[in-house]
Amino acid sequence: MDFKEEIVKMLDSNINELSYEEIDKLLEVPKESKLGDYAMPCFSLSKIFRKAPNIIAEELKDKLDVPSFLDKIESISGYLNFFINRKEFSKSIIDNILNNDDYGASNIGNGENVILDYASLNVAKPFHIGHLKNAVTGNSLYRIYKKLGYNPIGINHLGDFGTQFGKLIYAYKTWGDDEKIKQNGIYELTDLYQKFHVEAEKDPSLEDKGREWSLKIEEKDPEAIRIWTYFKDISIEYFNRLADKMDLKFDKIIGEAFYMDFVDDTVKKIKEKNLLVESEGAQVVMLDEYNMPPCIILRSDGGSLYATRDITGAIYRAENFNFVKSIYITGSEQILHFKQWFKVIEKMGYPWAKGLVHLGHGMVKLESGKLSTRGGNIITLEEAINEAKEKALEIMIQNGRDG
Ligand code: ARG
Repeated sequence: MDFKEEIVKMLDSNINELSYEEIDKLLEVPKESKLGDYAMPCFSLSKIFRKAPNIIAEELKDKLDVPSFLDKIESISGYLNFFINRKEFSKSIIDNILNNDDYGASNIGNGENVILDYASLNVAKPFHIGHLKNAVTGNSLYRIYKKLGYNPIGINHLGDFGTQFGKLIYAYKTWGDDEKIKQNGIYELTDLYQKFHVEAEKDPSLEDKGREWSLKIEEKDPEAIRIWTYFKDISIEYFNRLADKMDLKFDKIIGEAFYMDFVDDTVKKIKEKNLLVESEGAQVVMLDEYNMPPCIILRSDGGSLYATRDITGAIYRAENFNFVKSIYITGSEQILHFKQWFKVIEKMGYPWAKGLVHLGHGMVKLESGKLSTRGGNIITLEEAINEAKEKALEIMIQNGRDG
């Protein structure tokens, strides 16, 4: 329904002195929403009716029947104000969307690339309800950009790099059971990871064992790589299954480890711009002028960091996908991380720095406290989906088929 048109029609049949077009021109949207959704100023009618505008508004108000799509009509200081019923408005919009595949579509995107980095899980960690907000936000943006004529590219920046995989390899080699992993997939890996932490509390030397394996992954030791790839395959299979279930749009899975081969090049580029300085043995980019702590590029042992791999990933994406926007969706606890490395890219002089966007969302907490895979305090997304299905079924059975 075109609400404005309906209001103009209604006024037109009650004001003989003005034409439909004249009323259409007069009807305006009030600056403040408390004054309604549309307003008809009665000042220019003063001359015709030889009455004060507030009296004209008042008389018109008395003459009009309030149709069902309006909550009320009020006369306020020479204006006739119309308040649209919210339910009717929502219904009309939803009808419109359902009956029109192209609702809201446009071509302003001109086919340009927009990267959406979202639901970027870590290997061996399940999707839990805390990720739901992330997945839904990223996926909605994907669809919106597509409708606007952009070419969205969904990327899962899989967390497949870090010391935790050394720990997991140790746990797997010590307590792992392939048969159970085959049955329970990623959940079994999560259990092993949790077991490692429980055991390491009792015997801190396990931390060293974990570190040894993580070093072996970096050195590309064949056994370490074989087990790490095995974990990764299980995680990707799991991710794809859930992404399918939720109809999430993804085009690529590019894990953090992929960028390791390019890290040296990134460091070289930062050095060439004279941005790299040594601080307590580490190589950093200073960000004093932005009141931010330095962005650490290389640890004192030469290892890369999360930020280093994000910088490398951004350069890779700029070179390979030529994006107008690259949007990262994560929990808001990562706001500083993104602010810092976006500044590094800016200082490096890349013009595409302006296309980098971080969307930080709030965290989901359970009554039992913060969600933590390590501590075992999670509700997995699969559990949540299954429970929702069961509840829906229960209600359908209670209320009959159409309930
Ligand atoms: N895997 C990360 C995490 O769980 C999120 C990655 C977000 N994407 C990125 N390019 N940093 O916190």
